[in-house]
Amino acid sequence: MEFSINLASPEKAQAEYLVLPLAGKKLPSALSKLDTASNGALSALASSDEFGEKAGSTLASHLPAAGGKLQKLLLVQTGKEVDAAGARKLADVIAKALIGAKLTSAAVWLGGIKGASLDVISAAISQAIVFESYRFTAFKSEPDPAPALTRIQYLVTKKGETEAAEAGLARGLAVGHGMNFTRELANLPPNACTPTYLAEEAVKLARHYGLKSTVLDTPELEALGMGSFLSVAKGSVQPPKLITLEYRGGAKSAKPVALVGKGITFDSGGISLKPGEGMDEMKYDMGGAAAVLGTFRAVAELGLPINLVGVIATCENMPAGNASKPGDIVKSMAGTTIEILNTDAEGRLILCDALTYTARFEPEVVIDLATLTGACIIALGHVASGLYANNDELADALLAAADDTGDKAWRMPLWDDYQEQLKSNFADVANIGGRPAGSVTAACFLARFTKDYNWAHLDIAGTAWKSGAAKGATGRPVPLLVEYLLQRGLKKGKK
Ligand code: BES
Ligand code: MN
Ligand code: ZN
Repeated sequence: MEFSINLASPEKAQAEYLVLPLAGKKLPSALSKLDTASNGALSALASSDEFGEKAGSTLASHLPAAGGKLQKLLLVQTGKEVDAAGARKLADVIAKALIGAKLTSAAVWLGGIKGASLDVISAAISQAIVFESYRFTAFKSEPDPAPALTRIQYLVTKKGETEAAEAGLARGLAVGHGMNFTRELANLPPNACTPTYLAEEAVKLARHYGLKSTVLDTPELEALGMGSFLSVAKGSVQPPKLITLEYRGGAKSAKPVALVGKGITFDSGGISLKPGEGMDEMKYDMGGAAAVLGTFRAVAELGLPINLVGVIATCENMPAGNASKPGDIVKSMAGTTIEILNTDAEGRLILCDALTYTARFEPEVVIDLATLTGACIIALGHVASGLYANNDELADALLAAADDTGDKAWRMPLWDDYQEQLKSNFADVANIGGRPAGSVTAACFLARFTKDYNWAHLDIAGTAWKSGAAKGATGRPVPLLVEYLLQRGLKKGKK
């Protein structure tokens, strides 16, 4: 797909499909030439009852007698003023129409949108088009056809607008590509997307963008004392991997942000076996790891002026004769002994060692991403990710990024009161805290291993994928993370 920004009036658009966002039902003067060329058909369409006044309403039509390549027209109602959320909604409507059409070229006129900056609008539309054009084809004998659309141009009215539209385009593409990379990895079946496969993909990504990468295998994990991580992996024939990525776009002296991902490529529950229904969806238990890789892709594509570290702990959680059992006690890299009361609470067992390991990068901020608890879905549903943080400034920055992108997150507490639930009679800590506040106690478990740095945890159990007829990975929380890192890069640049 090819995107371009053109300083041209809509009547000059060299495209088959023309999208005209309009604020209200009256044609602005910028469209009068096109209206004349179409013998007044355009103004008639805009003022007709079929074109609603509610933002997001559309009216599609052939474009009679407009000349040139133009075949089809889509009017999109923007409402009076468009805010960031409105821009995303508009972008969604436009992207779905363009991707659903059988035409190969489209022009989107950006002159008719009021309120949101051109930068924001161009980013939203670009991201939505990339997102909507994703298809999972790897295992389909007759895959859904790829979208016909190959050329998209944005039409701007003033010379000064080109730059803002370009900046938005670059951002939208990078986030869209990052999300689709995350979605593809997560959608892959667990017999294809193994820990080894994830490590290979990480190394490939690193080669492509000139990042540093390392992959640690079992003997090295043993030498590091990662008894907790290894206890999860040992019931599987697939070997575990600890993957690290390093992107250096910032000052040499600038401490990095670290992203830590849960990469359980299949969570059967282990000896505490899960029920069969819906168990296939536990292939998505590497959604945190996939989001780390997707975010790296976006950050590298944009060349953000920050330093970023990625740490992914990846393995399978399987039952076996040599698998961990309820009652087993293991020793983490930090030296904490953990009583495994339920082998299905495995995410925290691999993350605690990954989080301890991450300290060696002397990060300024650590954010872990994990499909950690079913309880988080009970608390927040599929709308918001659960956000936990031991630092208010970090929490606020992440909430702001969530707000700006619509990739919603909601802050949850980490009060010490909850630590009571993790008491063990036989070890330093238990790996489960009972049914009450299950998402909180999981986060509180992690909090014991993150005292030495600014840390946030995103429980993405409810947001990383969709179930039901539209089953598939969402690419979240890549938009939130990229926005947070973008804002961080801007701030650092000012200092
Ligand atoms: N990967 C699951 C969490 C999960 C479950 C995410 C369903 C999305 C949908 C995690 O490893 C898990 O099994 N957690 C247990 C914890 C419990 C045993 C304390 C859970 O949530 O039931
Ligand atoms: Mn589990
Ligand atoms: Zn899990």
